Amino acid sequence: MDVYGGTRVADAYAFHRPPVHAPLLRHLPPGFRAGRALDIGCGAGLSTAALRPYADQLVGVEASPGMLRHRRTVAPFAGFAAGTAEHLPFREHSFDLVAATGVLNYVDIDAVLPELARVLTADGTVVVYDFGEGGHDRLADWRAEFERRWPWPPGWRPFDPRQVNLGAHGWNLRHYTDVHLHIPTDRPTYLRYALADLNVDAAIRDGRATLAEIRDWAEPTLAEVFDAAELDVGYRGYLAIIDRCLN
Ligand SMILES: C[S@@+](CC[C@H](N)C(=O)[O-])C[C@H]1O[C@@H](n2cnc3c(N)ncnc32)[C@H](O)[C@@H]1O
Repeated sequence: MDVYGGTRVADAYAFHRPPVHAPLLRHLPPGFRAGRALDIGCGAGLSTAALRPYADQLVGVEASPGMLRHRRTVAPFAGFAAGTAEHLPFREHSFDLVAATGVLNYVDIDAVLPELARVLTADGTVVVYDFGEGGHDRLADWRAEFERRWPWPPGWRPFDPRQVNLGAHGWNLRHYTDVHLHIPTDRPTYLRYALADLNVDAAIRDGRATLAEIRDWAEPTLAEVFDAAELDVGYRGYLAIIDRCLN
C-alpha cells in the first residue's frame, strides 16, 4: 500500500500539518538564497511553499501524484511534477538548490545522491530538514496509547544525514543543526493533526477502524490531558546543508 496514496493524507498534508517548515528554515545561514529550487518528495506542497523566501523559482516533485491535488491552493506560485527522487524528470544542471523534507526516509539514497548531482548546478546545494511527531510531557502517555492502538504503517526508515557516507558520492555535510521548536497548539488543532496522520489513515484504509471510532477514543482522552487552552507542543528536528566536495 502507498501510505501517501489516500485522499485523506493529501488533505491532511495540505491543511492539518503543524506550521514547522518556516521556523525550521530560519536556521539556514543568514542571506541564504537560490535561483531555481527543487523540492523532492514535496507532498502537498507545504515544504515547497516554505522555500519562497529563499528562492526565485520553485518546483516540487512528488512520487504519489494524488498528494498534489491541493497544490494550487498551497503553493500557487510554484510548478509541480510527478516523479521520484531516484529518477527526476528534469534536465542536467536545472537547479541550484534541492530541498528534501521528510522524504529521504523513503528513498534509495545511493540512487538519489547521483540524481541530485545530475540535476544540480556544479556549485548547487542540498538542504535536508525534518521533524518528528509533536509531543509534550502531558501528551506522552496519550501518544503511546494512540500509536499502540493504530500503529504506524510500514515504509518509513530512520534517516540521519550524519550517518550517510556522503564522501563516497562526492558530497560534503557543510552544516548540521538540531532544532527544537515549540508551537502553542489548542486541543481542536492537535486533534485534527492527530486524526489526519498516516497511522489513522492506514487503520481506516485497512478496515481496522473507522474515523468515527478513532475520534470517539481520541476526543475525550485528549480533553483529559489538555489542561490549558493551549499546550506548547514540541517538535524535535534538524536542518542540514550538503554540497559537493571541492577537488
Ligand atoms: C513525510 S512526507 C513530506 C511531504 C512534504 N515534503 C512536507 O514536508 O510536507 C514524504 C513525501 O515523500 C514522498 N515520497 C516518498 N518516496 C518518494 C520518492 N522515492 N520520490 C519522491 N517522493 C517520494 C511521499 O509520497 C510523501 O509525499
